[in-house]
Amino acid sequence: MFDVHLTRSPPFTDTANCLVVAVCDARRLSACAQLVDRALDGLISVLLERGSISGESGQVLSVPLLNNHKAEYLLIVGCGTDADRSDREYRRILAAAFQELVRICAQSACIYLGEVAVRERDEHWKIRQQVEAAAAACYRVNSLKTRPDNKARNSLAQITLWGDERNREAVSRGLAVASGVRKCRDLGNLPANICTPAYLVEQAQQLAMQHEGLSTTALGEEDMQALGMGALLSVGAGSAQPSQLIVMHYRGGREAQRPHVLVGKGITFDTGGICLKGRDGMKLMKYDMGGAAAVIGAMAAAAELGLRLNIVGIVACAENMPGSRATKPTDVVTSMSGQTVEVLNTDAEGRLVLCDALTYAERFEPASVVDVATLTGASMIALGRHYSALFANDAALADKLLAAGQRAMDKAWQLPLSPEDMAQLDTEFADIANIGDGSAGCVVAALFLSRFSRAYPWAHLDISATAKQLKPGIAATGRPVPLLVQYLIDRHEELVEET
Ligand code: BES
Ligand code: MN
Ligand code: ZN
Repeated sequence: MFDVHLTRSPPFTDTANCLVVAVCDARRLSACAQLVDRALDGLISVLLERGSISGESGQVLSVPLLNNHKAEYLLIVGCGTDADRSDREYRRILAAAFQELVRICAQSACIYLGEVAVRERDEHWKIRQQVEAAAAACYRVNSLKTRPDNKARNSLAQITLWGDERNREAVSRGLAVASGVRKCRDLGNLPANICTPAYLVEQAQQLAMQHEGLSTTALGEEDMQALGMGALLSVGAGSAQPSQLIVMHYRGGREAQRPHVLVGKGITFDTGGICLKGRDGMKLMKYDMGGAAAVIGAMAAAAELGLRLNIVGIVACAENMPGSRATKPTDVVTSMSGQTVEVLNTDAEGRLVLCDALTYAERFEPASVVDVATLTGASMIALGRHYSALFANDAALADKLLAAGQRAMDKAWQLPLSPEDMAQLDTEFADIANIGDGSAGCVVAALFLSRFSRAYPWAHLDISATAKQLKPGIAATGRPVPLLVQYLIDRHEELVEET
């Protein structure tokens, strides 16, 4: 990614392409900005007087420096009012600053934005956010253009942040989250003809080779048949691409420690099956493996951090296609749990692959299970594009995930597993139907999953709205990797405190 240094030395101690300082509202210079102003004969003061910059939040102005052997650019960043600056505002300020650094192709930067106060957030948090913001600004889609533009990705080889060496851990955590996010985005952005179930297996295996303590196995269709995974297998039945169940183990805890299990929906393309989607609805469906990508990214990050936990990642991979062997509406399949499922809509396929993965998870006697899935368009209608929808059969687990999302700036909002809606899944022809009457679609999908996850504390994240962004261009966001990794870090911290 890039090197990160921490410093408590004043500006111009180290050499860097660019020096980044904060100016607040009412033209107030931060301590380091004052030092820079003095060293540069009042340059910042002059720019303020001329009105070139005001200190308004999110404003950036890069000024080339001549005959200065310590820096080639000065980047002045508006940080708004000091009183009550929110974490969201700080994130916006960081995004603006790092985007400008990438735009001017800075190779290295000394960044004094850690001086700026943020309500209820400490230096550790600010350092992590800066590392993650830097990585986000450098991210470029792994484009298949034959002449790729690598310039931005290769810029920013080194950043120096205002911070105490005691907060070194914030740097490693920020870098681990950032590389998990990058892995997640890269997988999501790949086209479905490349990113097939077999490709996801390969990627998970490659990560296992790169990280100590991480191992990957995969179950093919015959293995799944033997386990009775009729629901999962019914989804890939119409596709030439064989379905796969990836099982990743990270062993960082004692042998007897119960693992935390992450389960990902890995539909590498969702045509809807025989219940074919329309042209416009289908276009975005290469992103239907966003849950899988997040689980794989989070597993890599946990391994990179050497967390003292046991973690299992289960990724259910299939391609939902309308072939001659495809599952038809009203077909009844038998899940691994023994429950029979009437497939009334082949486009409600995510719950079918997940239910068998959730049953498979029982064998690990999990401390918790969190599944992650681009499961319903309804979650987007319920909550919009900024919150992942959270459901849980365990209040303590829900609270832990909500808190992790808050801290990681990757928020979730809890919706109910309304018992009143369970009857929507009743059918004459099997134990359970795979769709309801259309009301509360994301709740009903979660209720379906809850019938297969009674054996352990379980939560479900519907990330249909958050896994991809539509603006400025359509692309994977890497969510909810930050939330998942924070959740795991918190469990690790609990353990370390106990011992
Ligand atoms: N992968 C889709 C959900 C989705 C839709 C994600 C739009 C992102 C954007 C899922 O498999 C699906 O098709 N769900 C149906 C369920 C319905 C048939 C009960 C939906 O949401 O329309
Ligand atoms: Mn679907
Ligand atoms: Zn889907």
